[in-house]
Amino acid sequence: MRMLYLAVKNRDAESTRRILNDRGYINADVLIEKEGRKVLLPLIWEDKSLVEQGVADLGELTVREGRTKFRPPRSYKDVVDVPRELKDLLPSSFDIIGDVCILKLPDGLADYGDDIAQALTLVNKNIKHVALDRGVIGEYRLRDMEVLLGGPDLETVHIENNIRLKLDPSKVYFSPRLSTERQRIASLTQDERVLDMFCGVGPFALTIARHGRAREIVGIDLNPECIRYMEMNISLNSLEDRVSCYLGDSRDVAPTLGPFDRVVMNLPHSSLDFLEIALNCIERGRIHLYIISETAGVQDTLRMIDDTMINNDRVYSLEGVREVHQYSPDSYMVSLDLHVH
Ligand SMILES: C[S@@+](CC[C@H](N)C(=O)[O-])C[C@H]1O[C@@H](n2cnc3c(N)ncnc32)[C@H](O)[C@@H]1O
Repeated sequence: MRMLYLAVKNRDAESTRRILNDRGYINADVLIEKEGRKVLLPLIWEDKSLVEQGVADLGELTVREGRTKFRPPRSYKDVVDVPRELKDLLPSSFDIIGDVCILKLPDGLADYGDDIAQALTLVNKNIKHVALDRGVIGEYRLRDMEVLLGGPDLETVHIENNIRLKLDPSKVYFSPRLSTERQRIASLTQDERVLDMFCGVGPFALTIARHGRAREIVGIDLNPECIRYMEMNISLNSLEDRVSCYLGDSRDVAPTLGPFDRVVMNLPHSSLDFLEIALNCIERGRIHLYIISETAGVQDTLRMIDDTMINNDRVYSLEGVREVHQYSPDSYMVSLDLHVH
């Protein structure tokens, strides 16, 4: 490839390189060359006019065939083919579920989904499918997805907390961002019965079974695909002795299965609507309630919890409030640990 160089005398090479580097003129991707008693310092093409003005006295400008340095790309951003002015819009984080990468793109990058997907698979060899996430919708909390690369079958096996979870992220809800939270809940369990009111494919229930001390964990989900996968995951992890799951609406199913010592309520947009049901499933115990909260705080939620407790003649204390992860630029997923006395 043709490159622009500044040819300088051997003895001036290092001092000139520093001056050019400080001014941002050195092309760090191209090798410095030696030619007789001269050193060729590679310059950035776009800055040719600037270079001519600023460095004319330092050496002689020359154009030659150049050799680029080999650097293994560290991020897909290093190899992706999008216009330079859009690079700042490229997402820095995305979810990887098994071999499926799920990402959101801002409007400015809407035409570059295929290029971004190619770049992601080039840099991360574990990614086989890339899908665009257009948001979570409906009662089953499914992601509205467009497959950009791979597919159409997105079934995969995701490993977290030493458990294996088989799932198809287009048919069930699953978020890999809760793995630390699931470990935390597992670490709190004693010899007890746990209810996972919205179990999905079983990540909370199976993490508790593998790492906690609960003697029994029961999951409920409305989505038949979740229960189909959860049944597979129970046997995939050989946890049939302590984990079971039921298909149905928690409003109807949970009251038939109690009492429990601990209830996990991971349905962040409407978990409060189910608090009364959870209360009816425990005499005394813990409830882990997940909500989406504005950065301003959780005061409104706490007032609603107070009201539900009073209406049900129950006494509780708030044992913990944690930001689990950022949900949007101005909201967080928050966990509330309630101790019902
Ligand atoms: C946010 S997901 C959580 C899944 C799982 N706990 C996890 O961490 O991956 C909520 C789940 O609740 C289920 N769901 C929604 N309404 C329900 C209801 N009334 N009864 C039982 N499950 C319900 C959805 O199908 C979905 O799988």
